[in-house]
Parts: sequence; structure tokens; C-alpha cells
Amino acid sequence: MKTIFNTLILALLSLSFLGGKEKSICIKPGEIWPDNKGVHINAHGGGILELNGTYYWYGEHKIEGDAGNTAQVGVHCYTSKDLINWKDKGIALAVDNDSTSLLVKGCIIERPKVIYNKKTKKFVMWFHHELKGKGYDAALTGLAISDKPTGPFKYIKSLNPNKGNWPLNFSEEFKTDTATMTNIKPKSEQGKTIIERGYYVRRDFNKGQMARDMTLLVDDDGKAYHIHSSESNQTLHFAELTDDYTDFTGRYTRVLPGESNEAPAILKHKGKYYLFTSGCTGWDPNPGRLAVADNIMGPYTSLANPTRGTEKQMKTTFQSQSTYIIKVNGKKDAYIFMADRWIPKNAIDGRYIWLPIKFDNNDIPYLEWMDEWDFSVFK
Ligand code: DGJ
Repeated sequence: MKTIFNTLILALLSLSFLGGKEKSICIKPGEIWPDNKGVHINAHGGGILELNGTYYWYGEHKIEGDAGNTAQVGVHCYTSKDLINWKDKGIALAVDNDSTSLLVKGCIIERPKVIYNKKTKKFVMWFHHELKGKGYDAALTGLAISDKPTGPFKYIKSLNPNKGNWPLNFSEEFKTDTATMTNIKPKSEQGKTIIERGYYVRRDFNKGQMARDMTLLVDDDGKAYHIHSSESNQTLHFAELTDDYTDFTGRYTRVLPGESNEAPAILKHKGKYYLFTSGCTGWDPNPGRLAVADNIMGPYTSLANPTRGTEKQMKTTFQSQSTYIIKVNGKKDAYIFMADRWIPKNAIDGRYIWLPIKFDNNDIPYLEWMDEWDFSVFK
């Protein structure tokens, strides 16, 4: 009898093994995160799209060594029903082998984000794009489109956004001199600081603004926004996308000018917009930042460091840098802070720091370390 009982228990336990891989029941920030094939998920600087109960995780596919810091493969896609167990769906956007293509292997593709356009029924991917061999100089945003969430995405274009448009919150006084600004060095901007005088905005007025670290937000009314580090990473730009999400309308604002924010990730909670960012220290972590606004395009007010914990955790955001905030389906006020622990010497080994977002008595979000956690943390 005892033997039959033991066999039954073993059979039940084996149901939780899928294709030889044990089903995971919790998230372990910073650990190796195996996909359905047992391979560490390869989707760095990622973002999540949720559609009809399926989550799609898009991120930078990295290879071993420091070559992995450039795009050798493309954007990887995984799917999941529970945000814990992920299926490898392969490369959603592939780099090009044609050396004349802007998306040639060896260029830089970072922080891809995908949104779904209900009107056109297209999946729209925007990503930070740099040209092969040109470092981070081009500061472009790239666009790729697909009929299916898992791709293949077709590369459409890369651009410096908002060409020929002034920010909505730009002083009339400085909407001048665009032609000659191209040759003016920042140091010749006397009096107020170069940021206050909008040096970079004016310099780039005719060619389009710089766009590096980025994220996307589709607001409740279906309007989408492209949020990116601009002005040589010194100021964020919040830019409205067209109704089909494939272009910029020209309406944009400067946010937290001169405060050098990177790695934007945004959540809307009880009508307020909470913006998580980092400072600019390359691949090294730094103290996370938080700001709040009543309107998506600002103005934003800076709040305290959202990280709670030891001094080291607060100084390094648990050794990570924000990339996206996931809204958990079917749970009230449930959001996940999604960040990268970069390992630039062996890029493929970068780890994922996912933590539940907590709210204090004033409804301000904050983060606390957990070695492992599951969705019972959400009410
Ligand atoms: C920090 C950015 O957030 C990353 O996406 C990447 O661009 C690194 N800088 C490169 O140093």
C-alpha cells in the first residue's frame, strides 16, 4: 500500500516537470533564469507586452564576451502565462548581414519595447539604435513592425525625433538662431547654463533630437508616448506618437532638464505617473531615482530614492538599472520593477532583477530586496 502511495506522489510531482524542466514557482532576482529549454533567458534591457493573457518579453539578445554589448543577433522574444515560466520564441527582430543596412550586425540595439496598435492590428517595436562603429553618437530611435507578436518584425527606419519642432515647454526667448547654433560650442553660451538656454534642443532642431535610453507607454486613452534620454543624456524628452504609433507627432516636452536621467521606466497608479530612472554611469549601477507627475508629459517632481535597504543597495539599486515596469494582469495595484544587472565583460550573463513594487501610506512606490518571491505578495 505504502509503495502504491509513494508511486502516486511521484507521478503527481512529475506533472510539474514539463519537457524535463521543472516548472518554477517563484522569481529569484539576480539568479540564472532558465527558459523552457533550461537556457538562461537572453532578453536584456527588456520590456513586456501583455495581450489576451499572454506576456511577451522582448529584450537584447547578447552573446558571450564584450562583443555581446553590440547587436550580433537581434531582439529575442519569450512568452509566458504566469510571468515566471518563459518559452523561447526565438529572434523577433534580426540584425542584417547586408553591410549597407543601418541594422547591420555589430550596430547597437538597446532597450526594445513593443506596443500593440488596436486600430492597425500591428505590433510596433521601438528601440535605441546606434550605428555600427560609431559608438553612441547617432542617438537614434529605431522602428520595426510585425503582424504577429513573436515576429518576424520588419525594420522600417531609424531617426532623430521631433525634427523642426520645439518642445511644448520651451521658452519663446530661445526659439531662435537655429541655423547658426550648429556651429556654436556650448562654452559660448554665457549667462544661464547651456541646458537652461536649450543649447542641445536648438542645435538639433533642424536634424532631430537625440534619443538614447527609452521606454514606451500606452496611456488609458490609447495614446502612446516615447520617453527617451535626449540632449546628450542630460534631459529626458516625453514625445507623443502618432495614432498608428509609427511616428512622432512633434508634440514633446523636456523633463527634469539637466538632471542626467537614463533607463526610464514608468507606471500609472491612481491617476499619477511615477517615473523610475537611473543616473548616467555606463554599465555600472547607481542610486535609482523617482519622480511623479499628474500629466504624462509633466511637469515631474523628483521624490526620494525609491530603493529601501542597506546603504549599498540604495547606492546601486540592488546592483541594477531599471528597464520597465510590468502591470500584472488580474491583480489590483500589482506592478513589477524590471531591471538589469549588467555584466559587460560577459554580456550574455547579465541578470534580471524583478521586484514587486510596494506603496507607502502616501501611495508612493518603493522597492525592497527579496531573495525570492511569488505573486502572493500582491493582495
Ligand atoms: C547605460 C544604458 O542604460 C545602457 O542601456 C547602455 O546604453 C549603457 N549605458 C552603455 O554604457
